[in-house]
Amino acid sequence: MKYLFALFFSYILGSIPFSFLIAYFCGNVDLRKSGSGNVGATNLYRFCGIKYAFFGFLFDFLKGFFALYISQRFLGINGLNLILTAFAVILGHVFPVFLYFKGGKGVSTTAGVLFFLDYRIFIIIFSFFWLIYFWKKIVSLASVLSALLLIILSILFFSFGILSLERAMFFGIIGFLIIVFHRNNLKRLIKSEEKRVNE
Ligand code: G3P
Repeated sequence: MKYLFALFFSYILGSIPFSFLIAYFCGNVDLRKSGSGNVGATNLYRFCGIKYAFFGFLFDFLKGFFALYISQRFLGINGLNLILTAFAVILGHVFPVFLYFKGGKGVSTTAGVLFFLDYRIFIIIFSFFWLIYFWKKIVSLASVLSALLLIILSILFFSFGILSLERAMFFGIIGFLIIVFHRNNLKRLIKSEEKRVNE
């Protein structure tokens, strides 16, 4: 029963579209109809600037973190059930009930989940993300390459016995899904049509 509640609670928490709400607060902007159409911190940055984007990222990050923190600390969820709870919060963000199941691409929420589940992998991925971003100034490229690195690290860490099979599989699947969620960005990247964040 507690497990089902944790799944439901995490999905609902993940469904709260913070960047979308902040965009309305900053200037009545509907992110679904503006810029890339994505309800994430990057698109929020395009219309509301860095301060609002920072809070968009932070809240989307925190919902990933707190879904797992609350599930583990107060509901006693662990092991495979905690991993399924992690899926629930990320899928809540990507397919939110409050936005007719059309949400973001899961990057900020996955970062919060990653921070909770394995801070070592989080630090590597987070540093790599910013390295790529400062090099190319394209967030989607940084996101896709970081997702690829997440897949590689999950295999490596599992091979060296640093990660359990269930966590390695989770990180690998999430990395793959984030790349899939960026398929339209990928098409633009291949055609060199993807805009830098300030264009
Ligand atoms: O996290 C989403 C980011 O990687 C790309 O956002 O708005 O450029 O599609 P956007």
